[in-house]
Amino acid sequence: MGAMTSLADDPTVVQRLLDHIDGGTTDVATTTWREPVENYRSEARFAAERDLVLRRYPIAFCPSAALPGPGSYLAREAAGVPLLAVRGSDGRVRTFRNACRHRGTQLASGAGCQKAFVCRYHGWTYGLEGNLRHVPHEHGFPGLDKSTRGLVPVETTESQGLVFVTQETPPVGEAQLDRLPPLIPPGFRLTSTTEGDLPVNWKIFAEGFLEGYHIRSTHAETFYPLQFDNLNVVEAFGRNNRITFPYRAIHKLRTVPSAERSADGKLTYVYHLFPNVMVATFPAKIVMVVLEPLSVDRTRLINYDLTDRDAHDVDAQAFLGRGSALVDLGAAEDREMVCAIQRSLGSGANEFFEFGLFEGAIGHFHRALHALLGA
Ligand code: FES
Ligand SMILES: [Fe+2]
Repeated sequence: MGAMTSLADDPTVVQRLLDHIDGGTTDVATTTWREPVENYRSEARFAAERDLVLRRYPIAFCPSAALPGPGSYLAREAAGVPLLAVRGSDGRVRTFRNACRHRGTQLASGAGCQKAFVCRYHGWTYGLEGNLRHVPHEHGFPGLDKSTRGLVPVETTESQGLVFVTQETPPVGEAQLDRLPPLIPPGFRLTSTTEGDLPVNWKIFAEGFLEGYHIRSTHAETFYPLQFDNLNVVEAFGRNNRITFPYRAIHKLRTVPSAERSADGKLTYVYHLFPNVMVATFPAKIVMVVLEPLSVDRTRLINYDLTDRDAHDVDAQAFLGRGSALVDLGAAEDREMVCAIQRSLGSGANEFFEFGLFEGAIGHFHRALHALLGA
């Protein structure tokens, strides 16, 4: 993959959106994409996606803000493997396979802050850097070299406010994490984490975030009154996408000098971090959505909500609450649609799904996935 194409700045995006509004146009891809329905149903294809891409590509695991200080940890599964991310005393985030080196029990679940990890089963104790510090009744393990039985690390990189993990080496492709655009700026803190499982293939879920062609039809009374139908700027960067959804409030920027036009409160950026993570910007809020594939027809949705507003600012909290209520309603509409697609996969109605010129980011996603699986 060549150099990562850089994304347009806010004034440029705003101008492109205003031009689309005036011209009744939207960004279009050069070609459509046909994805075989079998690729959403096949166990073999799912296993290949999990083993060859999701475990070998740098996956956005959590926001850096989920690990605010030394000892902060977050445990969850990624591509079916239990992982434990920990910020060390040196401020660095390390991620480990969440399995005790005695008999494999998980050392932590959920999130919190600790000075050490003590296995619940027999009490083996590990430091924040994964080192095995203590074994109760150690004489039961003659010859045990504790220095060789630390937690097993997984390659971890922090970039643009996110923690990325690559479980297996050699990695597939190149994610160019050092060249990502700003995603979660410093100053944003985690306000909540929510999880839910849905009976849907992870790629069908991902596709729902990647186009604005469904805004009027699906979100008639939620997003559409505030947004536009089928009016987006669509940009690719590396294997990733950014889809811009303007709000009607963008008209207010017409009287603002071009260089001073800020996206804040005027549009939503949805960053698709290939393959299974979205970062979406809202007024005063950023949401990171992880689509954790559980099986070919089941996906865990993990939402990390972040804000840069003060927790004690009553007005800001009320504003955030109203925004979240609307986003929750819209998200429920999306869930209804993607679950409906899943139910039809075996019906024989479609041999392929055709993504049109307005759905170019989905074509870009599948093209990149096909290329990695074929590699
Ligand atoms: S499994 Fe962890 S101490 Fe035995
Ligand atoms: Fe939607």
